[in-house]
Amino acid sequence: MNPLNHVAIIMDGNGRWGLKNKNSRNAGHKAGLITVEKIIKATLKNNIRYLTLYAFSTENWKRPKKEINFLFNLLENFLTNRIDELHKQNIKLQIIGVKNFSSKLNSLLRLAEKKTYKNGKLQINLALNYGSKFELMSAFKILKKKKEKISEKNLRKYLQTKDIPDPDILIRTGNTKRLSNFLLWQLAYSEIFFERKLWPEFNEKDYNKIIKKFKNIKRNYGNI
Ligand code: FPP
Repeated sequence: MNPLNHVAIIMDGNGRWGLKNKNSRNAGHKAGLITVEKIIKATLKNNIRYLTLYAFSTENWKRPKKEINFLFNLLENFLTNRIDELHKQNIKLQIIGVKNFSSKLNSLLRLAEKKTYKNGKLQINLALNYGSKFELMSAFKILKKKKEKISEKNLRKYLQTKDIPDPDILIRTGNTKRLSNFLLWQLAYSEIFFERKLWPEFNEKDYNKIIKKFKNIKRNYGNI
């Protein structure tokens, strides 16, 4: 059985779910947050060490301002109301991406990271204003500036995920099969699961089914 250390998720389909069920994309994001909480619980139950959630990409700035503001408000409330509980559960929160939000959200994010820094049961990497191409280009630029040899080992030092093992599993909900500029380097050997369900419909049972399937896959890493 394969060991499972790291699950990464592209939480797609909030907007479609919201429009279909509540006539509002933002209602879909609100429902999506409930799924986030359920999946965090299930990740703890499964003793998985790392969970990476794609919450906002560098491309998501193209969305209407009203939707962006709603998402950031949701995140602010989540951090304000939930951080103590996450901390008590020995969860570490780390942001991957560039923190260039409002000063209120930036400081809430920094505070949450600082508070939970030493926790070791589960690390949640929240990808916010994250883009894999930007991450890779920045890492190459640092290598060039420092005149370091271009090697996988050196490049890795400058990725936002430098201390995190690569994901074993990538899940994308929402019935779309693409990577959307997410962890392009880190997903090189991940097992990928595309789910038809929209993110607000995804539940613990679906998650456990994927985990069970993953555990029985023969992982070859190019070997036979
Ligand atoms: C993609 O669905 C989802 C997002 C861009 C936002 C993800 C946010 C959440 C799950 C809730 C907030 C999370 C936290 C941690 C506060 P989409 O809007 O692209 O859906 P669509 O493809 O149906 O339009």
